[in-house]
Amino acid sequence: MASEQQLEALAVDIARQAGVLARRRRSEGVSIAATKSSIADIVTDADREVEALIRSRLHAERPGDGFLGEESDAAQGTTGITWVVDPIDGTVNYAYGIPAYGVSIAVVRGEARPGEWEGLAGAVFSPATGEMFHAARGAGAWMDGTRLSVNEEPSPAGALLATGFGYDPATHAGDLARVARVMPMARDLRRIGAASLDLAYVAAGRFDGYFERGLQPWDHAAGALLVEEAGGRFARAYMEDNPGRPLFVAAGPAIFDSLFAAALGP
Ligand code: IPD
Repeated sequence: MASEQQLEALAVDIARQAGVLARRRRSEGVSIAATKSSIADIVTDADREVEALIRSRLHAERPGDGFLGEESDAAQGTTGITWVVDPIDGTVNYAYGIPAYGVSIAVVRGEARPGEWEGLAGAVFSPATGEMFHAARGAGAWMDGTRLSVNEEPSPAGALLATGFGYDPATHAGDLARVARVMPMARDLRRIGAASLDLAYVAAGRFDGYFERGLQPWDHAAGALLVEEAGGRFARAYMEDNPGRPLFVAAGPAIFDSLFAAALGP
């Protein structure tokens, strides 16, 4: 059995190679391959190609492990370990030429269902900046050679928060109401369009907290481990109006409870 740190090293290596490919394809021009749940939820040829690269490297190096990725069919493994992969998180940014997108690779143990697995290691790579965020359970979160830690206290001016909105226009009114509830504790709010980077930035202390409804497993699997290993908290709440679209919150311990309560609402 590989150690968490060996799995982390593999995630880092593959995420970097995948990110280099994504960046090259972006510079060559991007074509829109299909639409997913809505017109805004696009998938590019590059998404598919990058996931295929990640999958084939994992298959070569860890043939017995399972796979859960955004762009291809899931596969159950025989080792109890599953790789949870978003080849290009922030696809809309990527398609529009906005450099806020990431490659997110996590490796988890247990049922391949969020909330039931234990994150072992993960990497979030930002191809446009070259920043590699990575973590292994019990060994901390790192950006390249620097150990990460969440902010202990937000500035007296308030918390710098981040959020995202799902691609389904029907959910936007609820998302905006959530923003209105949270704003009294914020100095400002960012919406950068890549959940894996939002979570990595909470781990790095660039954001004090982050909240969003409706993330998919591959959006948060690596980022949640980064936050926890950086001393922060990450949790989800299943809400009555749509239990299939949980709320996710990540923050340092000082503001986590108040952010969670405000985001959840009455
Ligand atoms: C999306 C991004 C976005 C978030 C959406 C995600 P994708 O991932 O992370 O920031 O608001 O909920 O689906 O589709 O670009 O990989």
